[in-house]
Amino acid sequence: MEKIKHYGIEDIGSEVTLKGWVSKVRNLGGLIFIDLRNRAGIMQVVVRPESEYYGVASELKNEYVIKVIGKIVERESKNEKLETGSIEVEVSYLELINRSKEIPFMISDDVNALEDTRLKYRYLDLRRSGLQNNFVLRNKITFATRKFLNNLDFLEVETPILCKSTPEGARDYLVPSRVNKGSFYALPQSPQIFKQLLMVAGFERYYQIAKCFRDEDLRADRQPEFTQIDVECSFVDEDEIMTLGENLVASIFKDVKGIDIKLPLMRMKYQEAMDKYGSDKPDLRFGMEINDLTEIFKDTEFSVFKSVLDNKGIINAIVVKNAADKYSRKDLDKLTDYVKTYKASGLAYLKFNEEVTGSIAKVIREEELNSVKEKLDIQDNDLVLIICGEYNIVKVALGALRCHLAKELDLIDKDDYKLLWVVDFPAFEWSEEEQRFMACHHPFTSPKDEDVDKLLTDKAHVLSKAYDIVINGYEAGGGSIRIHDGNVQKTMFEALELTEEDIQNKFGFFVDALKYGCPPHGGFALGLDRLTMLLAKTDNIRDVIAFPKTASATDLMSECPSPVIKEQLDELGIALKTK
Ligand code: AMO
Repeated sequence: MEKIKHYGIEDIGSEVTLKGWVSKVRNLGGLIFIDLRNRAGIMQVVVRPESEYYGVASELKNEYVIKVIGKIVERESKNEKLETGSIEVEVSYLELINRSKEIPFMISDDVNALEDTRLKYRYLDLRRSGLQNNFVLRNKITFATRKFLNNLDFLEVETPILCKSTPEGARDYLVPSRVNKGSFYALPQSPQIFKQLLMVAGFERYYQIAKCFRDEDLRADRQPEFTQIDVECSFVDEDEIMTLGENLVASIFKDVKGIDIKLPLMRMKYQEAMDKYGSDKPDLRFGMEINDLTEIFKDTEFSVFKSVLDNKGIINAIVVKNAADKYSRKDLDKLTDYVKTYKASGLAYLKFNEEVTGSIAKVIREEELNSVKEKLDIQDNDLVLIICGEYNIVKVALGALRCHLAKELDLIDKDDYKLLWVVDFPAFEWSEEEQRFMACHHPFTSPKDEDVDKLLTDKAHVLSKAYDIVINGYEAGGGSIRIHDGNVQKTMFEALELTEEDIQNKFGFFVDALKYGCPPHGGFALGLDRLTMLLAKTDNIRDVIAFPKTASATDLMSECPSPVIKEQLDELGIALKTK
């Protein structure tokens, strides 16, 4: 078999055989023009009235499968937009290989059919060159990954899909066992435990392009099954792993897109990311950082600010440069509704022109206004948006508003890629729902050496050896140095309030493994789907997964999940609750 050939002007005069689909047929004053589509793209084919194949050509409809033999000639009227726009094929043989039913939507990149219809006929939607190109890109990414990691002696090892259920943040997908009725496997949320066991086993450098499954609420960048570029190695520290990770990402960018990423990447502490960007995945393609005005208002008489400060809250702001005249009262009401979805109680604003106007212009003191102006380096026509309240709510709401405004005001250069590491994550986060501290990453993440002593006494101040790689506001990957000391691991489980029994049942085998000469180790996983999204410049994860699920985790094409017959359930020893 030869490579797929892409024909061009240099092929004029050669005889070619093409097979593919009819993308379009036009009959122009006797001449029939067929756009033949296949993996190479579109090729215009001409059939003249005197051709013995004119009858076959007249019968052709969209998506019929055909074979064409003919000579490549120069086109009279060229189409600059098409790769093959300067040439066409003069038919000397035409065969109809297969017909197609009438298609439910046009196969074209400016398709306007509903996404649900396109997902139902995914195999037709995938005929679009725009979508196919995403899979060419995805393949280039995995190829570049394997090349990079194999050059460094990493071994690609597969790990089980039927696993033991272990908590890792999201809900598990469960698979009932027929042989062991009443027992269940879980689909892996990631190969985390297995890759660590491979380190105990002495594999030293592991990777896998691994399918992961998480039963969580879906978003535009989340799917219930997704793929990770999963990496682990022994005898490394945080610095070495991050260097490895960024070199891998940079070599993917270079191989796939020819983009040079400047290394080393910036490293930002989690705390700084939250303070300045209200997010642990800051988008650095634009400014509009969050500023703290709390100090300026410490003696304020404005009751709303005063009561927030009395409750140890904060007052923060972002400056939207040169935008005061762009936002009407109504627009600002809309922004207020927007921040309320992030639990902010409201949005105050100031418009700086010759006169200062805005919702709080009249209620704050002159010197407070001047301090704000100075601290925020205000110029004419700047708009200042202020939120006050509890630290987390204020930061997250302003962080979201910052991204919302950047899109609204078109401040983002679509060709720009801004990469960074976010480091020094807290080990635990407080869960209001569960009223306890939970692991921020997973329970195998090592605390910073200097914080091990605080595991049981001061969880709020334990930092971990964890890092996330962030690209354009997306968490593209994350990882950590793991705990290799059995005692620290036990203390960590204790800190997470797992009982001895829980530990034995859930990870007994793993804690045991750590006792048999476990090397220090660490790793990371990149979200392959997210990386592909970023390089394909789409914000819909479904565009880079061949057969994706909808936001409600269903496959509209095969109509799954679906009920199973009673005999199947009986065999598994399962009875369904009717209500
Ligand atoms: P984490 O849970 O951070 O780490 O996942 C790593 C990366 O996987 C991607 N990702 C997803 N992509 C699409 N849909 C999802 N539902 C989804 N969830 C996660 C993200 C994320 O950064 N075992 C650890 C890694 C390690 O510590 O080595 C882990 O799974 O891009």
